[in-house]
Amino acid sequence: MTKYEEVAERVEHLIDHGTFKTGHRIPSVRRLSEEFGVSITTVLEAYRLLENRGTIAARPQSGYYVRPRVEVPVPEVSAPSSRPAAVGVDSLFMRILEDTRDSGLLPLGAAVPHPSLLPTERLNRHLAKVARELIDQSHLYDVPPGCEALRVQVAQRALMSATVLTPNDLMTTNGCLEAISLALRAICQPGDTVAIESPCYFGILQAIELLGLRVLEMPTHPITGISLDAVAFAIEHNRLAAFVVMANFNNPLGSCMPDDHKKDLVELLARHRIPLIEDDVYGDLYFGEERPRTLKSFDSEDGVVLCSSFSKDIAPSYRVGWVAPGRWFKAMMRLKMATNVATATVLQHAIADFLSTGGYDSHQRRIRRAYAQQMSWMLAGVARHFPPGTRVTQPQGGFVLWVELPGEVDTIALYHRAVSRGITFAPGPLFSARQKYRNCLRLNYAWWSDEVEGALHTLGKLI
Ligand SMILES: Cc1ncc(COP(=O)(O)O)c(C=O)c1O
Repeated sequence: MTKYEEVAERVEHLIDHGTFKTGHRIPSVRRLSEEFGVSITTVLEAYRLLENRGTIAARPQSGYYVRPRVEVPVPEVSAPSSRPAAVGVDSLFMRILEDTRDSGLLPLGAAVPHPSLLPTERLNRHLAKVARELIDQSHLYDVPPGCEALRVQVAQRALMSATVLTPNDLMTTNGCLEAISLALRAICQPGDTVAIESPCYFGILQAIELLGLRVLEMPTHPITGISLDAVAFAIEHNRLAAFVVMANFNNPLGSCMPDDHKKDLVELLARHRIPLIEDDVYGDLYFGEERPRTLKSFDSEDGVVLCSSFSKDIAPSYRVGWVAPGRWFKAMMRLKMATNVATATVLQHAIADFLSTGGYDSHQRRIRRAYAQQMSWMLAGVARHFPPGTRVTQPQGGFVLWVELPGEVDTIALYHRAVSRGITFAPGPLFSARQKYRNCLRLNYAWWSDEVEGALHTLGKLI
């Protein structure tokens, strides 16, 4: 344990044993540093850790306070059908996308970051700078594999998740979803079956549907992710063309697979020669001490296609993402060129410039802290306003959480009533090929504000 973890533990002990009760102020940083005989920096780090865990909260110009404990149970491991199915996410998806364009509605549904947590002004400066500097190239195609400066930055940063890549292992894409679609197209044939976590981000379901593929939905635990026993069983009883897995902060559950599960999954699929497409778009938004490892970091056979983007932390509108295609590199490059030729030149360079000189690390620290705190506020809000019998996930990163309502609640009916009150959320059936999870919904806590607290109150009444 580091010094500040020890300090955090001692403070947590005092809170657990009633020395500091819910709502009370804990000692100032200076006082605790004197009393514990540690530096101010150590106490600050310890308080930051406790904030991230949701144990305490800072109030500006006032100090740190003990937060209420949230006692809402976590949902059980999911239990989807053990048979493959065609995807049918239907028109609800389009309706919800349309609603995200309506600025009169509170967007608790779409998984988009809050504008105040994006580095827009700084990025604009980098954009202007590279547009000036690249005057001879900025209007040309940056053909695949795409902007080298960006691939260098991605390769350097991949080391934080123990993922060893060179710029030559990477190709830039129009967002993470393009990377996933290209991977599915390179690996699968129409009619093939792809295994996914259940519940699963509806963009992946849509991509699978549009390619004429079928899905096998796998039981997934809200804390530890896809069930390895179920994976072993599924491999034995089905012909599977690929797996698509969000090991770090699954959307919508927020689950994060422990390292030994990640390793076992990669090795199991490698033994059966089944390709694994990894969606790591939330991997950098972790609340713990360390960036979690990718599945790719356990891949010794080049069988994992790692996909990600800058949509969740820098600029969703830039549509800049990347992929490490492993042994499908050539096939994916051809598909990329045949689909849209290239990723936008200036936007890739602007992000590369921001990553190398723009304070990306401090930006990431700031948003991780904000999302961790907002997650605990959202959790407390759900506990306060939703009926008994509600279950809710406790994400360890990202910015969405999954709520399971008492059995008889229909979240599609609820959605229509909520929209008439100016609130949106993502109804559960969107996250399943067979439109299961009718009593579930996903909330985005990136947009936390007092207004959201009011919206939870309204939703609670409607429920
Ligand atoms: C899990 C997951 N993967 C991929 C995407 C799409 O990412 P991008 O906007 O970079 O295409 C999203 C967006 O919500 C997502 O939640």
